[in-house]
Amino acid sequence: MVIHFPQLFLWGAALSSYQAEGGNFDSDWAAWEKEKKLQTAGKACDHYSLFKEDFRLARQLNLNSLRISFEWARIYPAPGTIAHHELNHYIEVINTLAALGLKPLVSLHHFTNPLWFIQKGGWLTASNIDFFLEYVRTIASAFKNKVEYWIIFNEPLVYIYNGFVRGNWPPGTHSLTVAQKVLANMTSAYITAYQEIKRIYAQTPCQVSISKHLRVFSGCPHFSFGLNDVAAFVRDKLFNMQLLERLHNKHCMDFVGINYYCREYVQFDGFAGRECAHTDHRERRNHVGWYVYPQGLYELLMRLKKFNLPVIVTENGSTEEKNTDYREYMMTHVQAVARALKDGVDIRGYFWWALMDNFEWDKGFKERFGLANIDYGTFERSVRPFALEYAKIAAHNKVEI
Ligand code: BGC
Repeated sequence: MVIHFPQLFLWGAALSSYQAEGGNFDSDWAAWEKEKKLQTAGKACDHYSLFKEDFRLARQLNLNSLRISFEWARIYPAPGTIAHHELNHYIEVINTLAALGLKPLVSLHHFTNPLWFIQKGGWLTASNIDFFLEYVRTIASAFKNKVEYWIIFNEPLVYIYNGFVRGNWPPGTHSLTVAQKVLANMTSAYITAYQEIKRIYAQTPCQVSISKHLRVFSGCPHFSFGLNDVAAFVRDKLFNMQLLERLHNKHCMDFVGINYYCREYVQFDGFAGRECAHTDHRERRNHVGWYVYPQGLYELLMRLKKFNLPVIVTENGSTEEKNTDYREYMMTHVQAVARALKDGVDIRGYFWWALMDNFEWDKGFKERFGLANIDYGTFERSVRPFALEYAKIAAHNKVEI
């Protein structure tokens, strides 16, 4: 059976500024890498200089959209100070996308913050929200007639979990109480930012949302009197749906943006469980050890019907060793999207993470998610074979399921 996607369906790939641009030395991640002696992002993909080449590559792959992010620390290198040449750089970036027929989806925050913002207490200090809102207003005013789709935060719960609960990302905090305060502040920043963008855009159309990371949580299959399933249920409640429900109740999502990668097995250990220590599950694991579970994307998309809003898959992708595994991952997940579409979910776009290999946070450069491979010695990009299959689907706007 062949499924045809809607006429204006967005076929894209995603990137984030810190992971791709290079030279983002005023961001908190740069200080963290130094402090923890991690592999540094450094020049990353040198996308800051090579963005035109990268966008042409996206075009060659028949994409009609690209998800990028702006680096707050570049635009505001100090509190209250706009770096106009950086703002102009992003204007050139957006103009280039438009000239190539690539519709931009822009994230305003993708895990990184200006170092000065963190030194003032970061997201833990409620009054700091104003700094973020100042940046949002500057951007919304500058791009009012150029960008229609905005993502205010990429995966805030992933940021909070890694930065404030596990502490393996900056600022390296381990405290549920702090994490809860940060979540409250980021939620209120989101709501006000949403209202401000709408106010500034006035009659100009704009679609504003979040990129919410969703996982399928399943009880670890070893015997536990059902307690592992309870832990998985609690995780799903806390991690997957709660924030989306809150934002929906506040009427501040124009579409639901979701990032989906894998299934996670959960073992009971009190409250919300922890990742299952047993590794004898049915699914294949990708290069980074994630359980590949395309059916999970279908199931989650179906659950989003209740919001009665358009849905965009703002990230989905994998890091693999073999082209056949990339291909299988991409095909089965695009087919999952097609099935959900057929079953009544109003899906408007799909973005592969990522356009090219890039800096994978604490894991450095060894994980490769790109439609294009990067030779980090020469910065040469070369399209992976599976990307050509993705390009075919985008060109024909249909897939066989
Ligand atoms: C994040 C990206 C990251 C990707 C792969 C997503 O959760 O938004 O920044 O590179 O996952 O780990």
